[in-house]
Amino acid sequence: MKILFIGDIVGRAGREAVKKRVSVWVKERQIDTVIANGENAAGGSGITAATAEDLFRSGVHVITLGDHTWDQRELPQYIEKEARMVRPANYPEGVPGRGWGVFEISGFCPPIGVLNLQGRTFMDPIDDPFRVASKLVPVLKEKTPVIFVDFHAEATSEKIAMGRFLDGKVSAVVGTHTHVQTADEQIFPGGTAFLCDVGFTGAHESVIGRRIEPVLKRFVTGLPQRFEVADEDVRFSAVLINVDDTTGKCTAIERIFEKMES
Ligand SMILES: [Fe+2]
Ligand SMILES: [Fe+2]
Repeated sequence: MKILFIGDIVGRAGREAVKKRVSVWVKERQIDTVIANGENAAGGSGITAATAEDLFRSGVHVITLGDHTWDQRELPQYIEKEARMVRPANYPEGVPGRGWGVFEISGFCPPIGVLNLQGRTFMDPIDDPFRVASKLVPVLKEKTPVIFVDFHAEATSEKIAMGRFLDGKVSAVVGTHTHVQTADEQIFPGGTAFLCDVGFTGAHESVIGRRIEPVLKRFVTGLPQRFEVADEDVRFSAVLINVDDTTGKCTAIERIFEKMES
C-alpha cells in the first residue's frame, strides 16, 4: 500500500495546494491512501464542515487533527457523524468523535488503521499517549496489519520516543504540529517508518503559516495581535510511505517539500 500523508494544512493557501497536488501525486505514484492533518484548515484555526469537505473533494480519504481540534464551534457536532475524521485518541473519555478508525479505501489493499495521538511535552495536560497507544494498537492490529499513526506533538524527543515505542507494532509514526519539516525520515529496525515532523502545507513567507508582522509585534511588544493567515510562497509538505500489505512493515519512506508555482 502506498500512503501519502500531508502535514498540517494551513488556511486557504494550504487547501489550494492540496487541491492542486494530491491528484497529481496519486496518479504519478499510484497512491492508494491519502491522509492529511487538518487542524489548521479553517483560517488557520481548527476545521469546519466546509473546509473538511473541501479536503475530501481534493482526494483526502482521512483527516487527522491536533490541539486545534475544537477551535471551530461546529466541529463537535460534525465530527460525531463524520467517520473519516479522527481527533487525538488520548482526549478525555466521552468527548465527541473518535481517536482512531479502520478504513477500507482501495479494493486492492487491506484496510488501513489510522490512530491520532497528541503529545504532552510543552503542551496542555492530556492523558498519556504512550499508555493509550499500547491499549489501542492491539485493537487495530486485530483488524488490519497496516497501521498509520499521526503523533501531534511539540518535542522532537517525545516524537522519537513514540516512534521507538511503536517500532515493529505499527507501519508508520509521523509527527505533526511544529509546522517545520524535519529531515530525519527513516525506517526503524522493526520496520516502522518515522519522520519527526512532516511540516505544514501553506504559505511559507510567514511564521509557521501566519503573517510575519503581527507575530513579530506580539513577540517584541507582548501586545495581543490578530494573527492573519499568510498567502505567499506556498509549499506542499507531505511524506510518501510504502507498506507491505501482508506484514504491515514499511519498505520505503520519502519526504516531500514542494514549492508551488505562483
Ligand atoms: Fe498545526
Ligand atoms: Fe497543533
